[in-house]
Amino acid sequence: MKDLISLHDLTSEELKDLLKLGLKLKDELKKGIPHPILKGKTLGMIFTKSSTRTRVSFEVGMTQLGGYPLFLSSNDIQLGRGETIHDTAKVLERYLDGIMIRTYAHSDVLELAKEANIPVINALTDLLHPCQVLADLMTTYEHKGKLEGLKFAYIGDGNNMAHSIMYGCAKAGLDCAIATPSGYKCDEEVVENAKADFKASGRSLVLTEDPVEAISNADVVYTDTWVSMGQESEKAERQRIFMPYQVNQELFSHAKDDAVFMHCLPAYRGFEVTEDVIDGPRSVIFDEAENRLHAQKAVMATLMG
Ligand code: CP
Ligand code: NVA
Repeated sequence: MKDLISLHDLTSEELKDLLKLGLKLKDELKKGIPHPILKGKTLGMIFTKSSTRTRVSFEVGMTQLGGYPLFLSSNDIQLGRGETIHDTAKVLERYLDGIMIRTYAHSDVLELAKEANIPVINALTDLLHPCQVLADLMTTYEHKGKLEGLKFAYIGDGNNMAHSIMYGCAKAGLDCAIATPSGYKCDEEVVENAKADFKASGRSLVLTEDPVEAISNADVVYTDTWVSMGQESEKAERQRIFMPYQVNQELFSHAKDDAVFMHCLPAYRGFEVTEDVIDGPRSVIFDEAENRLHAQKAVMATLMG
């Protein structure tokens, strides 16, 4: 494992090892046991999109591992003025021990990983958000005491979150159901890859336009914004089309009685989720946000340690 680009690239064992290490690092942190696994190492963090959780959790995580996080806004580095990914990779590998990148085109992250002889971590592209799903699986495990055999339901846009959830569920042994409106379905290539992963794990993948079908009997209910970064001009149309996919009390009541509600955040109350659900007793959104820190420390320690 040189990079973390997609959960599809990991074996089930590699994914489970990351979750185990994340839980161990979390426990050590709570007990005040230091773990300077990356002492003297530097992580470059390239952002061409906004972030609260990703930036803060990677910076704090790298610091807790004894290393140094270097924030690189694309507005400030030459990449933003047209320097090639190839040259950026070849220069940065001379200084850094790893690169974390959040950007639009997934192909840019693949190219960076191919060209750079140091680990590259995908911190969100238009296609995938693997670090978020590692944190979500860790959170699921903490609340449910297991992963295998649970049902994970995602309701909303067939976007980067939906894609990484499919991959993560297949590798971790959960059943997965995704409900999206027609016209906003998941990427076909990702679905084909995911189907192969579900076949290998023996778990089921359901893709439907019916949110009630997807959510019925679910242990975990997940949604995400209807307007991802870069889609701002489609906001009004999306808000109209997605309204039947809002996770409200009525829809949530079709899940198991002890189902938890998840959202990667940032959330838009009154749109993809109602306040009573996201701020209700079964919402675990801030556990997910916290676990970004622990899960990503596991990723950095594994790739850069
Ligand atoms: N969930 C997530 O990635 O949040 P940020 O966009 O704030 O990093
Ligand atoms: N789908 C959202 C996730 C944000 C963490 C986006 O890409 O903007």
